[in-house]
Amino acid sequence: MHRTTWVELNSTALRHNAATVRRLAPKAAILAMVKANGYGHGADWVADQLQNRVDGFAVARYSEALTLRAAQADKRILLLGTELDSALLQDCAAQKLDIVIHDLNTAKLLAKTKLPKPITVWLKMNTGMNRLGMNATEFTQAHHLLAAKSDIAAIHHMSHFSDAETVDHTSTTAQYQRLSSVSRSLCNSQQHAPISMANSAAIIVHPETHLDWVRPGIMLYGDDPSATLPADALHPVMTFKAKVLAVRDVESGDGVGYNRRWQANGKSRIATVAAGYADGYPRQAPDGTPVLINGQRAPLAGRVSMDLLTVDVSHLPSVKPGDIATLWGENLPAAEVGQHCNTISYELFTRITQRVERVY
Ligand SMILES: Cc1ncc(COP(=O)(O)O)c(C=O)c1O
Repeated sequence: MHRTTWVELNSTALRHNAATVRRLAPKAAILAMVKANGYGHGADWVADQLQNRVDGFAVARYSEALTLRAAQADKRILLLGTELDSALLQDCAAQKLDIVIHDLNTAKLLAKTKLPKPITVWLKMNTGMNRLGMNATEFTQAHHLLAAKSDIAAIHHMSHFSDAETVDHTSTTAQYQRLSSVSRSLCNSQQHAPISMANSAAIIVHPETHLDWVRPGIMLYGDDPSATLPADALHPVMTFKAKVLAVRDVESGDGVGYNRRWQANGKSRIATVAAGYADGYPRQAPDGTPVLINGQRAPLAGRVSMDLLTVDVSHLPSVKPGDIATLWGENLPAAEVGQHCNTISYELFTRITQRVERVY
């Protein structure tokens, strides 16, 4: 098949990364984050690769949960914080979805909604992120309300860290202590609500927060947000590639691309590559952002356009049309490209667009 612009998705790398999660958090169950279409990698494919390696999946939209349920009949699927009315609560129960309850009103609504099947709820406490979640009083009230309801299969307690990847552990420790102490106060020797806090950074940096369930996202896809693991611990799953369409010589002073942002300092060679912002390559990428051409580093030169980008290959005289450029992935970490573009690997991965072929 003729292709100019594609992502290669490496199942061995994905499974290797899941094994790294298991090794770092051997006692915790794993809830793999496959929201946003598996961080852009394809949720069904990711779930299929990981189904025997993790204990459940999480998504952020009901539509994502339904699609995943069609492919994963029995696996635990958690629908993260969203808006839930009584009809949707009933649908979630019918679809055997776990749900996050992040506010007291929804807990009250659930308490009086008749469900077709029992449901497992994950009560979310706001421990410092100030995005979603209940304060300690509301959380306690919601717990008691739902503990008294017969068709609640189980109650889990959860929260989300705001900066687990940073060197300063103060806020992570404070967040951890806030949920732990409220959770402890609600449990006794007969009753223990499973607790979940750790995202990738906390899995790597804060083993004390692993608790009952860890929730890895980005590390499954090969990026270490803490930048502390040895190089071999995680492998990139997605490699974004495109063909070189043209190579031309330019003279000193010539400009390249829109507004001639990049200008040649001397005689130069420019390779034009079949990837642009309509494929998901960030338009904000500055000159100098690294690209691999036939595996060799070369700097982006000129503004990224909709379907094309241009690279200074003056030091690579053998580059020709049909050669392959790697925009991130193997040998060029997405996090490094992200740093140049003032963004993070998460955004790069999830912005790959529909027209980019996925090669599994
Ligand atoms: C509630 C929740 N848990 C876990 C994660 C996973 O985070 P990470 O991809 O940093 O591991 C996310 C991601 O944003 C999240 O929203």
